Amino acid sequence: MIIDWYPGHMKKSRAQIIEMLPTIDLFIEVLDARLPASSANPLLGKLRGEKPCIKVLNKSDLADPTITNAWVTHFDKQQGVRALSMDATDRRNVGLLPKLCRKLVPGRGGKGQKPLRVMIIGIPNVGKSTLINTLAGKKMARVGDKPAITTCPQQIDLRNGILLSDTPGLLWPVLDDQAGACRLAASGAIGDNAFDTTAVSLETVAYISNRYPALLQKRYKLNELPYKSMEVLEEIGRRRGCLVSGGEVDLHRAAELFLRELRSGKIGRISLERPGERAEKEQPKETESE
Ligand code: G4P
Repeated sequence: MIIDWYPGHMKKSRAQIIEMLPTIDLFIEVLDARLPASSANPLLGKLRGEKPCIKVLNKSDLADPTITNAWVTHFDKQQGVRALSMDATDRRNVGLLPKLCRKLVPGRGGKGQKPLRVMIIGIPNVGKSTLINTLAGKKMARVGDKPAITTCPQQIDLRNGILLSDTPGLLWPVLDDQAGACRLAASGAIGDNAFDTTAVSLETVAYISNRYPALLQKRYKLNELPYKSMEVLEEIGRRRGCLVSGGEVDLHRAAELFLRELRSGKIGRISLERPGERAEKEQPKETESE
């Protein structure tokens, strides 16, 4: 299965980050709590240097809470990094963020001090605009259901000593890890035309059958889970009336339905990866010529 998605503007946003770096005090990296490793941009670790970083594990309302806590502990061990689990649509828990920013950059953002300059970064569709809107308390950044809808950098004064810079969506140039790319596709972070829906669904069904069998059984009223993911998907299609004439299952429709229900949380709170489950990606070396 090949997943290859590299909209041109991602190159541009990388250059923007490098250009703005001297004017940034702290990064907020928005990750998808369901797949914090695959939704991370491996370049940020190199680009940010010594600057502190808050990893926001967003969409935690859709993720398995035990696994999200394990990710927070995992990230908190990294140098200069703090992690927070978050539902960006909920103003109550977003309120913790400005406090943590001030704590990590003492001397900025307080009364009579210079503003604290924060850059929000993350791959498309991970919830950056939603987070900014919730932080700002009103609609300021555009929010939408298609990956990469945010296209222009913008600066937002939160009027609490914090200046936010937004960047267009940023994904690493080559999705060379197909397993991670598959999780990204399942989560909705990759444009639907860039991957094979049935193949991604089958991979995801296999993972969920293994890690969260009871959720699948409950949602699709399956007394027993078939052993093969193809059979599980067929059974889902049959139960949901995804059929072609002659009564055969329309696998593509079943796959679309499954991904839709997964993304909206209807199957349950599911994490698609766990700390230590796979080797974390090597950070590419930043060279003078890059
Ligand atoms: P982006 O700027 O990083 O590209 O992402 P954006 O804020 O546009 O969010 C993408 C989708 O994710 C939006 O849904 C948004 O509502 C949803 N979202 C953001 N944060 C959270 C969260 O913490 N939990 C959940 N469950 N969803 C979140 P949409 O359906 O595509 O758009 P809309 O109908 O909400 O406008």
